[in-house]
Amino acid sequence: MIAIIDFGSQYTHLISRRLRQLGTRAEIFPPGMRLSQIAFIKGIILSGGPASVYDRKSLKTPVSNLKNDKPILGICYGHQYLAKFLGGEVEVGTTHEYGRETIEIANCSPLFASLNKHQKVWLSHGDQVTKLPAGFKKIASSKNCEFAAYENGQIFGLQFHPEVVHTENGIKILENFIGICSEERNWQLENQIAKIVDEVKTIVGKDKVLIAVSGGVDSLVAATLIHNAIGRQLHPVFVDSGLLRKNEAGEVRELFKRLKFYNFHFVDASKLFLGRLKGVVDPEKKRRLIGKTFIEVFTKEGERLGKKEKIRFLAQGTIYPDRIESAAASQQAEKIKSHHNLIIPKGTKFKVIEPLAEFYKDEVREIGQALGLPLDRLWRHPFPGPGLAVRILGEVTKKQLAVLREADAIFIDELQKSRLYDQIWQAFAVLLPVKSVGVMGDARTYEYLVSLRAVTSVDGMTADWFKMPHEVLEKISSRIVNEVAGVNRVVYDITQKPPATIEYE
Ligand code: XMP
Repeated sequence: MIAIIDFGSQYTHLISRRLRQLGTRAEIFPPGMRLSQIAFIKGIILSGGPASVYDRKSLKTPVSNLKNDKPILGICYGHQYLAKFLGGEVEVGTTHEYGRETIEIANCSPLFASLNKHQKVWLSHGDQVTKLPAGFKKIASSKNCEFAAYENGQIFGLQFHPEVVHTENGIKILENFIGICSEERNWQLENQIAKIVDEVKTIVGKDKVLIAVSGGVDSLVAATLIHNAIGRQLHPVFVDSGLLRKNEAGEVRELFKRLKFYNFHFVDASKLFLGRLKGVVDPEKKRRLIGKTFIEVFTKEGERLGKKEKIRFLAQGTIYPDRIESAAASQQAEKIKSHHNLIIPKGTKFKVIEPLAEFYKDEVREIGQALGLPLDRLWRHPFPGPGLAVRILGEVTKKQLAVLREADAIFIDELQKSRLYDQIWQAFAVLLPVKSVGVMGDARTYEYLVSLRAVTSVDGMTADWFKMPHEVLEKISSRIVNEVAGVNRVVYDITQKPPATIEYE
């Protein structure tokens, strides 16, 4: 097993995900954990983290985790931490690098075995190592960072992130590290399915489970796993929040009928949601309110059903990135957004089960495929729990929702027609509630702005904007302006994540 010490990076779990992808077991530990207490550790990875090694409150790990005979790999903060701990120097960077950089491999190292001299990598850092500890050699540098990588035969440091897909050969670097650790590679995703089904059976017993389904991949896969485990004891509930895309509610109803789920419940709560959102502008307030309302609706539905049959569990399709982004998985990670499905108020009567909580999106799709779910559903772009509410900046109104639905439907329709949809991780329209002047026919218009967002990504943790052909953009733009009343200008978003997020709120 490879132990990962979590210094609070947004990407810590990606490291374990990549190692598992390579067939190696990996476990994440808090910095204070003494790894000597844990069996079978063949190597140690120190994650990145948001702090500077000079911060008074920066995280530390026991000396025994660093002074032992196991191979160690430090990433970003981990790389700086190791350098400083071993007697090197770290300086607060003058430039702040975010995004892609090219490194040049300076000396041969088993960590870079079978890589070419120049490598595209993903850097996200402020500080950097300026002097290596005694006995170490530089193995790579970039334009702004001389010691982008170092080693001494046992300890390795990387200023960049090998775990994100934008580091083109990151997976190879991690594979090389597994080789250096002489670790086995026989962990398999499919074995996890039987494990989850067994766990659900054991936890639930003869009780009943309510599951929130949205029609999206995560809740569909979670519901199917639970359905396989407990069949009729499962009650899928679909809530129409009034924040869904065009035709979505009807399509979901059809899907669950087609998949022959028992006890499917459809709740139209759109009036309740829209009423509560009146006048709410702050993104976090919106998210919390929607989350709370969802739970309330489920609780009410559970109580209603409970008159006939006792329901004790609430299942959710929460996946790993939902947890890391809302900082629930790590006390160290900085809070970015509250994902609605995690804000379960204390005192809820239900026990919560989340069968996919340890998995990433691409793993969830693989599980879905192994379960025989329809491919068009599995490869559908993700849709956030708070729905169109986070795609209308500021207050959400019925009128704006109607405008956004039409614009979004045109966007997706054109992507499907031009066969681009499957090349994109997520594409959607966003309504910016600012007005600009235009002209239509001979008349002046003063209408809303629509921003089109299309990104490529593997798991939503990092993303790049999709290089959309101009003629497709032109077609989408002219269709939206001509067909959607209330919009007279369309823009295309070309920001990466980080520094932007995929959704707007
Ligand atoms: P961001 O905007 O944080 O989004 O870069 C990353 C991925 O997560 C989705 N997302 C959500 N999913 N509940 C969800 O289930 C949420 O509250 C939520 N917010 C964002 C987003 O669509 C993207 O795929």
